[in-house]
Amino acid sequence: MKKIIFLIPVLILAKNYTFCLSCHNGRKEINLNSLKKSYIKKRLKELKHQKNTMGYIAKSLSKKDIKEILKIYGRD
Ligand code: HEC
Repeated sequence: MKKIIFLIPVLILAKNYTFCLSCHNGRKEINLNSLKKSYIKKRLKELKHQKNTMGYIAKSLSKKDIKEILKIYGRD
């Protein structure tokens, strides 16, 4: 767990959002492409206030990052 949290900023700095797939879109995990883009946007804002892994990730995302993410993941 600690290792994952350490890795997150590094991965985000790399600006490669495929790292989202290390936890999403597997067989049982939350599939980002099954979610609506508007819902992903809303959830990423809400998750910023959560003290868990996804919370830390959401907090580190800028508005621009979220825009990029919405180009890659989610459906209309
Ligand atoms: C280390 C694993 C991990 C990584 C990497 C990760 N997520 Fe998550 N994500 C989770 C977990 C666990 C949850 C459920 C969190 C919760 O509900 O508290 C979640 C929840 C979400 C949700 C809300 C889904 C819902 O149904 O409400 C969205 C949207 C999301 N992640 C997007 C992303 C995006 C975009 C990225 C890449 C920038 C990403 N995640 C990277 C683990 C991860």
